[in-house]
Amino acid sequence: MINTSSKISIERVSKYFGRGSDQVRALAGVELNVQPNEFITLVGASGCGKSTLLRILGGLETIDDGAVRVDGQAIDGPGVDRAMVFQHYSLYPWLTVRQNIQFSRRLKTNRRDLTSSAVEVASGRADALLRLMGLTHVADAFPNQLSGGMQQRVAIARALQGRPSILLMDEPFGALDAQTREVMHDLILHVHGLEKSTVVFVTHDVEEAIYLGHRVVLMAPRPGRIDTIYDVPLPAVRNPEMKLAPEFNALKREILARIRETSGMKTDLEMLEQLTRTVA
Ligand SMILES: Nc1ncnc2c1ncn2[C@@H]1O[C@H](COP(=O)(O)OP(=O)(O)O)[C@@H](O)[C@H]1O
Ligand SMILES: [Mg+2]
Repeated sequence: MINTSSKISIERVSKYFGRGSDQVRALAGVELNVQPNEFITLVGASGCGKSTLLRILGGLETIDDGAVRVDGQAIDGPGVDRAMVFQHYSLYPWLTVRQNIQFSRRLKTNRRDLTSSAVEVASGRADALLRLMGLTHVADAFPNQLSGGMQQRVAIARALQGRPSILLMDEPFGALDAQTREVMHDLILHVHGLEKSTVVFVTHDVEEAIYLGHRVVLMAPRPGRIDTIYDVPLPAVRNPEMKLAPEFNALKREILARIRETSGMKTDLEMLEQLTRTVA
């Protein structure tokens, strides 16, 4: 269904990898509308097509059927309106933190001879992002001098430098320890509130998906598809206390159970139980 007010509209999208008997249906008939300024989280068993869908939105992967539109326009490759952040920070090790954040601007400067005032605007933005992400004191450090959490802050700041209207994040906090991850959650919510961007965020952590998302989209594998879309019954402005709310935990249990059902893990567990019973 085409929804003209949507920021992102994904219409019956299918994607195949490989040919013949090796062919994988990575996505089959995926339908999703994302509203402007919405924060959508994608969860689901490994291999259900989360990364593939995100890469399609980023213009890094083509589709075999259906349509994907941003602001009503079909996606045609990567664009400055969409920035991606991956689990591995992919910073340039030979550039300082500040230079990493300014890097996308530098490319443009080389190409188009920006005026000095435009360069000034860009460095003003970089300074604002350094402050926002709590990186000012490490602006002149190199990535390998920073912790994983700090490196990921740099990667997020770099993604924000070009003022993208859509932020695409693929398990961005997956490599961080639990405490750092919690800090990053509140930071990314703060950033989302300030920047008014639309976020599509992939995670395998259901608690993270609920805490961050306005809606949680649960995908299922073989073939990759959307199984269920959950509205998160929490106030728009989140705080860590909410993780203790009964409705938070009820939703977490429901989603975890559904992931188990759709991934085939439940049947594995049942088989294991049967086996144990037979042996006993
Ligand atoms: N470049 C590729 N070539 C072949 N198969 C791929 C490729 N990328 C993904 N796949 C397959 O597509 C399916 C979905 O993968 P992916 O999107 O990475 O899932 P997820 O991120 O949910 O774990 C998996 O079966 C995966 O093996
Ligand atoms: Mg993935």
